[in-house]
Amino acid sequence: MACSRYEYVKTYEQDDTILPNVWIVIRIDGKKFHKFSKTHNFEKPNDENALNVMNAAATAVMQEFRDVVLAYGQSDEYSFVFRKETAAFKRRSAKLLTYVTSLFSTSYVMQWSKWMCLPLAYAPCFDGRVVLYPSDENLRDYLSWRQADVHVNNLYNTAFWKLVLDSGLSNQKAEERLRGTFSADKNELLFQEFGINYNNLPAMYRKGTILLRKRVISDGDNDQKGRQAIVPLHEDLISSHFWKVHTEILGKYVPGTYTAPEIMPRLVDLQLNTKQEKGDYEKKQPENLAGIS
Ligand code: GTP
Ligand code: MG
Repeated sequence: MACSRYEYVKTYEQDDTILPNVWIVIRIDGKKFHKFSKTHNFEKPNDENALNVMNAAATAVMQEFRDVVLAYGQSDEYSFVFRKETAAFKRRSAKLLTYVTSLFSTSYVMQWSKWMCLPLAYAPCFDGRVVLYPSDENLRDYLSWRQADVHVNNLYNTAFWKLVLDSGLSNQKAEERLRGTFSADKNELLFQEFGINYNNLPAMYRKGTILLRKRVISDGDNDQKGRQAIVPLHEDLISSHFWKVHTEILGKYVPGTYTAPEIMPRLVDLQLNTKQEKGDYEKKQPENLAGIS
């Protein structure tokens, strides 16, 4: 095929292939979510449904990218860990980053009405970055860093909003009250003044959400192999216990099992019963649309 004289411009494109044999982490973060959460009346300091919109959008990313072995989310951010050997998009950094970020953003919008009561006021957007980690230890330290961040922020925010919403302090006074305090002080304040044992607050708020691909075994399930789904866990990933239980993350990638709790998390239920959902949707179509495919 003849080349046009403009073809040379292609040589300006830079090769951004990621090195072989490294953990690829893509972290996305909501743009100006301080304002976005205010506009959409998120509960303070944690809005369970809003966090589940994030979890559901991340689940969509994991469904698309089978090579994401773990995703970790908290507040308005999510990290996606690709297995070291992934060949997705020939390991081209910009392709991976833009695909994950845009799929997350569009999925966030698609999931919104499944969890939230009020409509989206404007389009949310997310930035993204790629970070590479050469060793398992580096990867664990990265995830521990993000989980430690949840702990520090959530303890502070829980105490802050109790002082403001329950005790009627101004934002400034609450800030002053907490300035220079240690974790133990904030725990004590919550217990003494509000009767709250911080460790009894929902684990999703304290630990963030870890998404793993698992075979779901539920009571009365005849098929003991289980069906695969992305499941949310709110465990302590800083401890070595977590890595001993979920060996598939660092080792040979064979999804482990997940014994469904009595009440199946809606996030999992939606995946296992997607056909039923489609059926419901079809039933809701106006009659004059029936039959149009
Ligand atoms: P940029 O990321 O720099 O654009 O700023 P940002 O406003 O998104 O702040 P950042 O990413 O540092 O922090 C996320 C912000 O989102 C928090 O400070 C909260 O204001 C808000 N946010 C996230 N999750 C929740 C939630 O469940 N409830 C409430 N009320 N706010 C939340
Ligand atoms: Mg943000």
